[in-house]
Amino acid sequence: MANCAEPTWVFGYGSLIWRAEFPFAEREPASIRGWKRRFWQGSTDHRGIPGAPGRVVTLLPDQQSRCWGMAYRLDETSRERVMEQLDVRERGGYQRHDIESHLKDRRVPGLMYLATPSNGNYLGPAPLQTIAEQICKAEGPSGANREYLFKLAQALAEMGSKDAHVTALLEMVLERSGQAIPPR
Ligand code: SIN
Repeated sequence: MANCAEPTWVFGYGSLIWRAEFPFAEREPASIRGWKRRFWQGSTDHRGIPGAPGRVVTLLPDQQSRCWGMAYRLDETSRERVMEQLDVRERGGYQRHDIESHLKDRRVPGLMYLATPSNGNYLGPAPLQTIAEQICKAEGPSGANREYLFKLAQALAEMGSKDAHVTALLEMVLERSGQAIPPR
């Protein structure tokens, strides 16, 4: 586990946007600068299994990009317990990483869970069609991999945020599963 200062705000950019399942004092759509979202992390404990991993998101440093997600302010009294729970939930390759989140009217220090190429489940880049195919097939203890993609796309749409990588994969997966592509 990375060595980080005690967090106050947790920034979520994947399942942590729509599936908080922990107590928080406050939450707000937020962005972080210098990062882009990619379905490059393998999941063997949530959206896939060992030997047939799913694909979930991680972030890559990119000076030109800004990533939108959800920032949660943790309550002092439950902070330690929540962080322990999140460490367990994200143990499939993610580590705490200090960042600064941009809220509507201020910037706040905090952390996110980041999966880097050094973790054993990291899958890295692949053609979008290959990623879409893998997402269509994979399933794990938390459910179908495509549900993860659908919920992420829906949560971003609800926040009014666009992510070309997520949209392109959504269209490919919907096409493969014979579902209608929702209007943009
Ligand atoms: C996150 O949501 O911020 C981390 C990746 C995930 O759990 O989907």
